[in-house]
Amino acid sequence: MSPDVPILEVQNITRRFSGLVAVNNVSFAVRTGEIFGLIGPNGAGKTTLFNVITGLTPPSSGQLRYGQTSLNQLRPHQIARLGVARTFQNLRLFGNLSVLENVAIARHLHIHTGLVQSIVGTRAAKTEERQTALKALEILELVGLASKAEQTARNLAYGDQRRLELARALALQPQLLLLDEPAAGMNPNEKGALSQLIHQIRDRFDLTVILIEHHVPLVMGLCDRIAVLDFGQLIALGKPEAVRHDPAVIAAYLGGE
Ligand SMILES: Nc1ncnc2c1ncn2[C@@H]1O[C@H](COP(=O)(O)OP(=O)(O)OP(=O)(O)O)[C@@H](O)[C@H]1O
Ligand SMILES: [Mg+2]
Repeated sequence: MSPDVPILEVQNITRRFSGLVAVNNVSFAVRTGEIFGLIGPNGAGKTTLFNVITGLTPPSSGQLRYGQTSLNQLRPHQIARLGVARTFQNLRLFGNLSVLENVAIARHLHIHTGLVQSIVGTRAAKTEERQTALKALEILELVGLASKAEQTARNLAYGDQRRLELARALALQPQLLLLDEPAAGMNPNEKGALSQLIHQIRDRFDLTVILIEHHVPLVMGLCDRIAVLDFGQLIALGKPEAVRHDPAVIAAYLGGE
């Protein structure tokens, strides 16, 4: 995707839930390669906006463009195939499966061998299975979970589960990665390490990242630009320093910290 074309354009997006306007006429463009922060108080509409972008929740009105492609009519799996991956605020791991299996299953979206071939055990399927495991291990190495590859996911510490959720999203080989509160529940050391990891991942995979996060130092230190939502509305958009000193933001969000 050309660096001049925004990777994602959110145009006048509104999402209503009966009487409540969770996202209210929000517009912004995310540039290719940037780490873009999305912040705001609880209930501001951040997760709803992620759900709209990834096709889980259709917008009530407005347009979404991914490069030149309209996302409006697409199903979640179609949007994922275009190169958009996300993590969930409430983790969505397979608790009974191993760490490695969790990543391998996510990667299945990119496996082209049919189910029948897998069952019959053709050479192509076996080669792909091996490649999947190797690739999954490589990703686990990157997020610092390789030594726990055989552990059952639900037995991991909370911070490790968050990293596994990130590994699952990376397994889809996205161009655009949406992270919904990836540092929630982590201790300060883990938060610092995660911040470095997100930076490293962006550079290594040429990713664009949109990050929802409540931990202000992490957001300020990591993001190229930040959008601030309050009661569904976009109240500020700009570089961290400008957003930090914006009176509307201080009133709505930072003042409460
Ligand atoms: N499926 C739904 N049905 C009804 N209301 C919803 C639904 N999803 C979200 N909402 C409401 O929309 C508003 C925005 O919620 P959302 O989860 O997007 O906020 P958020 O910014 O992610 O908050 P938090 O920081 O707490 O995660 C809230 O008032 C929420 O109760
Ligand atoms: Mg949320």
